[in-house]
Amino acid sequence: MQPLHTFSVGVAPDLVSLVSQFEKRGFCFVNLDFAKDRLSVLKTKLTTFFSTPNKALGSENVFLGYSSTTSKETLRFLAGHHREEDKHLLPYLNVDGFMDEWCNTIVRKLLKTHAVDIFGCSYESLGNDYDILLCQKEGPFSCGLVDVAYYLNNNPEKIHNKQKQETNNNNDNDEDVTNQNCTSHVDPGLISLSLFSTAPGLQLYDPEREEWIDAPVASKDEESFVGVLWCGDAAVKASGGRIKAAIHRVLYHDEPRLTVWYEAVHRSQIPESFLRVREVAAITSNNIGKEDKCGEVVKSFEANSSNSQDDGIFCIKIKTLTGRIIEVSVENDYTWYRVKQLIEEKEGIPPPKNRLIYRGQVLVDDKRICDNKVPSGGVVHMVLAL
Ligand SMILES: [Fe+2]
Repeated sequence: MQPLHTFSVGVAPDLVSLVSQFEKRGFCFVNLDFAKDRLSVLKTKLTTFFSTPNKALGSENVFLGYSSTTSKETLRFLAGHHREEDKHLLPYLNVDGFMDEWCNTIVRKLLKTHAVDIFGCSYESLGNDYDILLCQKEGPFSCGLVDVAYYLNNNPEKIHNKQKQETNNNNDNDEDVTNQNCTSHVDPGLISLSLFSTAPGLQLYDPEREEWIDAPVASKDEESFVGVLWCGDAAVKASGGRIKAAIHRVLYHDEPRLTVWYEAVHRSQIPESFLRVREVAAITSNNIGKEDKCGEVVKSFEANSSNSQDDGIFCIKIKTLTGRIIEVSVENDYTWYRVKQLIEEKEGIPPPKNRLIYRGQVLVDDKRICDNKVPSGGVVHMVLAL
């Protein structure tokens, strides 16, 4: 896949190509070489940071700041708004304000200029109607989330059988979860920008070609930086289902992998305790994490869609992460949320953790089976939402 040309403040992206790729597969590669000097410094600083033993800086329950588990170490910040207790970590993350404000600025600029072209709704609507924090009025949480992950790839269950990995990598739609550091999922937010990965592992699914595509790797000589721009659930809702959410996963690799990405997050991704008074008026505990409001909008977009199924009970097939097929008895006017409840009865997966995908499109909870024209015997893919 050819990356789009330079994606920068003040430089219009190749919009036609970007929209087309978002509609087909929910992601595109972008050339970040214009920032390669800073990215290179950032990479060096973070590599030094993560290779320092016994950091003892946090615990695995911390939402922002540093955390570590047996499989990975992470740094997580709201871009531009750092907690007092985490500010001592900034020297590792902030390169001349690069990580602090650069990501906010570049993604905000893209959305302010092109929200209507890309999503079909205004920048303000992304903030007000779709709860994207970055697009809300200036305030302490009008920003995105920066995630830095250092995958240790030391899991004892890691499979080193390269033959098996190669077989599964590109042409097999079935999931070999034993080789996955992070199983297939879509993100809840609007849009993410991955700045770099230092080793292979991240893969994105191309529903059109039905294959997994490896994300670019920052070359050792640092001559080139190609990032990934991908869409989440909120992009599907904001675009009335026209744009796809990028299905992605992370495979184990033989060496540690350092990666940095920024996400224009949905409000539900930030714990309530971090949200502040000036935004309280816009928040009710009823709408956090639910899709009622978005579902209404999507429904109105689809009001004229016809019903492709006859009435009555029929079966659809749910393909699980391991490739196993579950049959679920449904009726045409069942919502996808109800289908998720039926799956929960069989598999124990709670609906909020479940994402259903049909022909590459994420199925919205409030939409009905007939809205998506899934026929009797139709195969719906199930992935986990993290
Ligand atoms: Fe993700």
